[in-house]
Amino acid sequence: MKDQEHQNGKSGFNRRDFLRGSGAAAAATALATAPQLAFAQAADDKKVVRDQTTITLNVNGGDHKVIVEPRTTLLEAIRYQLKLTGAKPVSPDGVAGAATVLVDGKAMNADTLLALECAGKKVRTVESLGGEKPDAVPAAFVHNDAQQCGFCTPGFVVAVRAFLNAHPQATEAEIRHGLNGNICRCGTYANVIQAAMEVVKGGSK
Ligand code: FES
Repeated sequence: MKDQEHQNGKSGFNRRDFLRGSGAAAAATALATAPQLAFAQAADDKKVVRDQTTITLNVNGGDHKVIVEPRTTLLEAIRYQLKLTGAKPVSPDGVAGAATVLVDGKAMNADTLLALECAGKKVRTVESLGGEKPDAVPAAFVHNDAQQCGFCTPGFVVAVRAFLNAHPQATEAEIRHGLNGNICRCGTYANVIQAAMEVVKGGSK
């Protein structure tokens, strides 16, 4: 309990006070690395999140409150709290690209991002590209039969959207290169490229 009080600074005597007041601590301070000192400073200032906390995520144009721990990934927050299940938990290291979402317009893996990092950023999931009038990319996927089991498809759709936003006149070779962070075990690559090329040519509007 006392240790906890010291951690929380409730006792009025915190780690920084100790470091300041002790001659021995002066030596310790000299030996501490810059990141260690920065961490101690942040902890004392209560800027470090140790337990659950509520943050606001801006997802698909709306603000949503989610309860997260420091380890909670963006994928966990959007799937299990916001019930947006398009992005798939296929690879915790993000290697499959199935959890691709847009963060401030850039394609990123939601399974390798912490939810805390995304507070204050604009997140868009594949759900934002659907609806009654779907975006040209998912429409082109349908036209070109660019999915089989569908596990990789949401990630591919978002990745294609992000790539074509940045390169609207991309060549086939550029699209192939731009999508190399996404994997399809069913082997739908040819159809995915075909769908992307259809969008480049102005199709599926
Ligand atoms: S459609 Fe099955 S993994 Fe791509």
